[in-house]
Amino acid sequence: MTEDLAQRADIGPADGRGDRSIVEVFDTTLRDGEQTPGVGLTVREKVEIARHLLRLRVDVIEAGFAASSPGDFEAVRAVASEVGGGVGVASLARTRHEDIDRAWGAIRDAERPRIHLFLATSPVHMKYKLQLTEGQVLAMADESVRYAVSTGAEVEFSAEDATRSEPDFLCRVFDRAAAAGAHVVNVPDTVGYTTPAEYRRLVRRVMDHLRPRYPGVKISVHCHDDLGLAVANTLSIITVGIDQIETTINGLGERAGNTPLEEVVMALVTRHEFYGRLTRVDTRQIARVSRLVSKLTGIPVQPNKAVVGANAFAHQSGIHQDGVLKQPLTYEIMKPEDIGLSGNSMVLGKLSGRHALRQRLADMGYTLAPARFERVFLRFKEVADRKRVVTERDLEALVEDEIRDGPETIALDSFHVVSGNGAIPTATVRLKVGSESRQEACTGTGPVDAVFRALSQAAGVAPDLRLADYSLKAVTSGEDALGECTLRLESGGRTATGRGASTDVIEASALAYVKALNRLLESGAGKEVASS
Ligand code: KIV
Ligand code: ZN
Repeated sequence: MTEDLAQRADIGPADGRGDRSIVEVFDTTLRDGEQTPGVGLTVREKVEIARHLLRLRVDVIEAGFAASSPGDFEAVRAVASEVGGGVGVASLARTRHEDIDRAWGAIRDAERPRIHLFLATSPVHMKYKLQLTEGQVLAMADESVRYAVSTGAEVEFSAEDATRSEPDFLCRVFDRAAAAGAHVVNVPDTVGYTTPAEYRRLVRRVMDHLRPRYPGVKISVHCHDDLGLAVANTLSIITVGIDQIETTINGLGERAGNTPLEEVVMALVTRHEFYGRLTRVDTRQIARVSRLVSKLTGIPVQPNKAVVGANAFAHQSGIHQDGVLKQPLTYEIMKPEDIGLSGNSMVLGKLSGRHALRQRLADMGYTLAPARFERVFLRFKEVADRKRVVTERDLEALVEDEIRDGPETIALDSFHVVSGNGAIPTATVRLKVGSESRQEACTGTGPVDAVFRALSQAAGVAPDLRLADYSLKAVTSGEDALGECTLRLESGGRTATGRGASTDVIEASALAYVKALNRLLESGAGKEVASS
């Protein structure tokens, strides 16, 4: 089914704004999604996610907000220069020349650079946040769009808090932006306040106002989920004929999050006879991208989440199981294969060599630098020795362990644990901290706690270091499954996630802890770590 639809999505008549049967996807996982509390992606992680978004075939990747920090500038620049394939790469910018210059500096190497300007238009934002009059906002929209267009980039103009703006004023602002050369205007429901019928009415009004005057300007929608209506609001305007939807993977984003890409895309595929429009997304990549984003951000996907939750295709009750066995269509409106859920077969064994592993990783969308590949290969050999079969999920866990940049100041050399009922759990660890070797032993409430205490002491921990989150799950089923640990450490107001995978769950936990310590050090929050 997906194959046919994907093919149909590629063809069709084109007009000034492109193929009307297609709605474009502007993915903002790396910008609005990264604004999820507790999430902070490294440059390498952003590039890896962007590569997978390209495979997913989104139309535009919003890679960050270049003027917000040197780290974000670098991440946007890296995505723009390393991810080709004809995808648009956007940077957010306020309507100031310095922001526009930073955005352009970061995206200029992209095949399709886009500057995404935003300016609030609601009375509450203009009065309290901006302290600007309507006339000043109109002038700023006009001037900033002209300046951004002069760089040669595509320009998108977002009227922040559009759904609480006065509709006539909103249309006037969009008019000025379009007259100044904006290629796309966006109608964000910034605080997740609107309802489907109301949003549809507002977007229609904007459209009726703009289309006769500026037929080539694309209209976009961007929803937040504060009232749980982001998907409903986004879908409500599909048949109105908008050009672009803005989404994030797994619905990540500020507060309650943004519109989840996977839900809207699968609604359009599954109810194509109703909506009559599709995206260019290759739905078979959805499950993998969802897992990647969840692992790299450290934000788990709830089991009952639509489309990508662990239970989305599980049938618990006897009546349902019986029905599905007789005919899957009784209770399944989508097939697991449509989102790429069937590719977890045995892929490699302990006799497989570098060439086979490299090829398999390339098929899965990973290209690793030689040193990283070598580390993954060694880990793969270790796992293949302990497990009978190494699946795609196992490989994902090993590779995602490696996707990070920055120096590994601290490395786990060895650990030893004594535990059992009747024994006080005790761990001895040896760390390499720079060129120095450090060893510590500690007791704890359990073996993992004992290892964490010993690691903290050996690293010379900052007094406020705190384990904020810890989760452990099996990557695949079976007794020899890889255990994957994701945890979050907090220190000095910063947080860092770490992941580790091993057939030994204590080793997986120790590896994750050391990764997070390194990231804290890198971010400057762990200054006291490792200095004792
Ligand atoms: O929610 C919002 O208004 C935004 C804009 C920057 C588009 O994210
Ligand atoms: Zn937003």
